[in-house]
Amino acid sequence: MTDIHRQASMFEANIEEDKNTADELEKLRAEIRRHDQLYYVEAAPEISDREYDALFRRLLDLEHENPSFITPDSPTQRVGGEPLKEFRSVNHEIPMLSLANTYSEDEIRNFQRRVTDGLDRIAPNYSAELKYDGVAISLRYTDCILTLGTTRGDGEKGDDITQNIRTVYSVPLRVKPIEIKGAILKNFEVRGEIYMLKEDFLTINREREENGEKLFANPRNLTAGTLKLQDPKEVAKRPLKITCYYLYSEDVKLELHSENIRLLQKMGFPVGNLRICNTLDDILDYIYYWRERRESLPFFIDGVVLKVDSLRQQDELGMIARSPRWAIAYKYEAAKAQTLLREITLQVGRTGVVTPVAELQPVFLAGSTISRATLHNADYIAELDIRPGDTVVVEKGGDVIPKVSGYVAELRPADSQPYVFPIECPCHLHNKLHRPEGEANYYCDHAQCPWQIRRKITHFASRNAMNIEGLGEKIVDRLTDLGILRTIADVYDLHNRADELAALDRWGKKSVENLLKAIEKSKKQSFARVLFALGIRFVGEGAAKILSKKFVSIDSIAEATAEQLMSVEDIGERTAASIAAFFAEQDEREVIERLKTAGLNFNRDIGEENNLSPILEGKIFVLTGELPNMTRKEASDIIEAYGGKVSGSVSKKTTFVLAGENAGSKLEKARGLGVAIINEDDFRNMVK
Ligand code: IVH
Repeated sequence: MTDIHRQASMFEANIEEDKNTADELEKLRAEIRRHDQLYYVEAAPEISDREYDALFRRLLDLEHENPSFITPDSPTQRVGGEPLKEFRSVNHEIPMLSLANTYSEDEIRNFQRRVTDGLDRIAPNYSAELKYDGVAISLRYTDCILTLGTTRGDGEKGDDITQNIRTVYSVPLRVKPIEIKGAILKNFEVRGEIYMLKEDFLTINREREENGEKLFANPRNLTAGTLKLQDPKEVAKRPLKITCYYLYSEDVKLELHSENIRLLQKMGFPVGNLRICNTLDDILDYIYYWRERRESLPFFIDGVVLKVDSLRQQDELGMIARSPRWAIAYKYEAAKAQTLLREITLQVGRTGVVTPVAELQPVFLAGSTISRATLHNADYIAELDIRPGDTVVVEKGGDVIPKVSGYVAELRPADSQPYVFPIECPCHLHNKLHRPEGEANYYCDHAQCPWQIRRKITHFASRNAMNIEGLGEKIVDRLTDLGILRTIADVYDLHNRADELAALDRWGKKSVENLLKAIEKSKKQSFARVLFALGIRFVGEGAAKILSKKFVSIDSIAEATAEQLMSVEDIGERTAASIAAFFAEQDEREVIERLKTAGLNFNRDIGEENNLSPILEGKIFVLTGELPNMTRKEASDIIEAYGGKVSGSVSKKTTFVLAGENAGSKLEKARGLGVAIINEDDFRNMVK
């Protein structure tokens, strides 16, 4: 073979290889997209998280090896790109209008009259929809691929937040071209609302509270704040969602807004509840139906949107000022009630943070009875000038937790005095509270503070930590009051005091037995859970999982320098300092020794240690042909479980080619490159 010939055949081989890689990448991406749709939009997953993770990792690896093959619509692009300095401003091709708000039946009637008058007395159909309380965004798709995501901005131009939008799993990064009425829908604009579930909002705020960070008032603020973050990786950590309510395309023009919504749904975009109404009664029925049920929705709505359904009629009506004449928002009033503020008490969290709580005369408000509400911190109380003895206004608006929003001046007692924030912890140790520079919260720093200890123990036993059923708040309070529990380590001495426990008022032998069983069972919890359960400040579930994988034992974490800790992904300076401070405490170290004696898991899980088989870790495998006794999928799973990687094409970086019957060009290529070739038996010996 001449040089030219050799080069030509290598060139062909490269093209062949590129094509194989591109094919495999596209197959993987399609598969992952399908599972994303099933999981995030249809809530009907077909595979386990583990299987999904394996697919995703394979895609990441393959893209890592072949960076030129990365596409903007690849599912890996959801995990967030490089941070931006600032957002680019972009013009909206079609302005993003706002809606006129109404609050009464009369105003709805007037709207309906204006519309009918504007349409030469033809009463139109209306599309009634939920008004999601989130942040409006616009998405542009070019050739079926998401190319631009923007905020509403001033309606004329908004910020380019494409990178952040890509992290939202329910936003399709690519859609299938759909043929409608002979045209293919490929270029279009979708608008919708990005929002967050109430539950996810609460979880994030709870974590922030534990970390002593400022809380978000409601999911909308959190969503808006998140979309404006300049680091998409941070955005990717927040579970945002989308619901879509608008579609525009030059490619395909339908007659009805509701048809557009149905089409969006068919393309894989999440859409909200929609009902076609033709009479005022229908409309009011829809409004009242959802007013009664909005509390039980997993997300916030602040009203209902009414739109003329016919797009031709919408055009006919046009707009006035910045709002369309063909649509209106009916806003629900925030549910409010007045009640007596009996007293302000203090709550102490496990990190010592002190939160004032309004103890209220119980009052019924939008579906539940409220007897307590948070007052956040001393500044909040001072700003509103709320005092014990006041008749206060309690609101359940766009906020998950009811809030005290003010007091009724006429009903304030004559002898009322401004509230003075206590200087001491409410516990019997009366430790002096202190407020660190620049923080809104007061803290109790006493390690022996029984209030903190209670919260520490409840956290330790909680579901996501040691998951000790039967060791809830009430029992913990009781056992700490009696001095039976003083630290988390005492939990594992309870079996020595079974008789004492069974003798306690309203507690039988059976309950004690169950509790002791649950405690025994908790000894099997993973290292990651144990780490989280310890309650180290800033070490949430995520950080605990990472630490438990990077360090072989609790001792190696305790001995690590700040630099070593910070070299771990996601562990910042603050967390590293907090970990160091934790292990510097003699008391904490003693507790850990006792927990070790009790048999808790303080080492990297055995399974994980085995996974790091020195033979497979970091090795790159290529599979080809049919293996005699296992499928390629089974072999891939084993390789990945042992820390190896599976790639689709042979290159110099390939460590082993695992070849079976009828192996083709990959085998030849491996021979050409001198890559080790093994069969199933060799492989089995490796992982034995
Ligand atoms: S239609 C001109 N439909 O409410 C029509 N908006 O005040 C514009 N919103 O900016 C929007 N749910 O952020 C429409 N089903 C829905 C909506 C909705 C929530 C928000 C959106 C918009 C604001 C209008």
